[in-house]
Amino acid sequence: MTATAVICGLGACLPQRTVTNEELAGRLDTSDDWIRTRTGIARRRMVEPGTSTGDLAVAAGAAALESAGADADFVLLATTTPDRLCPGTAPEVGYRIGLGEVPALDVSAVCSGFVYGLVLARALVTAGVCRRPLVIGAEVYTSIIDPSDRNTAVIFGDGAGAVLLREGLVSEPGAIRATDLGSDGRGSDMIAIAGGGSREPGRDGALPRDRRYFQMDGRMVYGQAVRRMTDSSRTVLEQAGWTPSAVGAFVGHQANQRILDAVADHLGVGDRCRFGNIAEVGNTAAASIPLALADTAAQGRVRPGTPTVLTAFGGGLAWGSVALNWPDVVPVQHDVEHAHTSAAS
Ligand code: ACO
Repeated sequence: MTATAVICGLGACLPQRTVTNEELAGRLDTSDDWIRTRTGIARRRMVEPGTSTGDLAVAAGAAALESAGADADFVLLATTTPDRLCPGTAPEVGYRIGLGEVPALDVSAVCSGFVYGLVLARALVTAGVCRRPLVIGAEVYTSIIDPSDRNTAVIFGDGAGAVLLREGLVSEPGAIRATDLGSDGRGSDMIAIAGGGSREPGRDGALPRDRRYFQMDGRMVYGQAVRRMTDSSRTVLEQAGWTPSAVGAFVGHQANQRILDAVADHLGVGDRCRFGNIAEVGNTAAASIPLALADTAAQGRVRPGTPTVLTAFGGGLAWGSVALNWPDVVPVQHDVEHAHTSAAS
């Protein structure tokens, strides 16, 4: 049997504060009905001032280790909203979790970051670089959203999810069976924060509002998202030797319920095999897939070993998919406060 990486722990962390559509409609030109029908989102979570992506990542990462009953020897942190522009957030997260001097780096692939992280983690395991990588997807997305922009403020939320992987066999629950990654830099302007980087540093506060905040051409991105996630999912299905009807769990990046339904319809995945939590948490970018996995696992809705497809698409443009057996794990969820009381802090 071929060696691969196997998910053996699953953790999550959501901030306490819930922001409803009604609350947003009280200060923006929008409505609960518009948001629900266009996106499927009813509410999202938002951190209190002072809570960072690293805080959420520490809580979710520690939860994944507790779920597995094991430590990690590598940290990959997928995020669009690092604590600081420099250095990466992962080393501090690893230290605060109590992992000492393990290798740690950030993965910057926006909404596909967690899937990219999973694929890299499997490669690290099978290449013998490490034995138990921790892959965290964490975002304080609200830190880059213009609160007065109805195009984006209704969509995104904050949160973190994490998985611990170990070496194992493709026949085991949690085993990664097939992977696919891709990107198309021609679409790099479709989802972007224009300023603040080396191209347009905007020193001395010189950046106008629309260059400082996250912008997305939703209409253009919509078609790309459906096409790329459908094609990428088909690629991993083919590699895994599964027909769409064999798929028992489909978990896509929680960008928009209509996009997720269109992808699942194109693939031919049944209604009862589609899992997610977009209604409750909105789009949490790199955190969305592990949060959806933790939510589904907590409800015991999928049998360990069930053929599963994860797929994501986002800024870059970048996309990716993973075919795996549903893991045999009991997820653990921690509050943000856990980050402030954990071992190394
Ligand atoms: N409330 C009310 N009206 C709104 C709102 C709002 N919050 N936002 C936009 N509108 C208006 C628009 O101004 C537009 O008005 P107009 O027709 O007068 O110009 C109208 O509603 C329709 O706008 P559309 O953009 O066509 O709405 P659409 O149905 O496409 O939904 C959305 C917008 C939700 C953004 C959708 O396009 C989408 O989900 N796109 C893809 C997002 C995605 O997958 N992103 C990639 C991952 S995320 C990442 O990488 C960070």
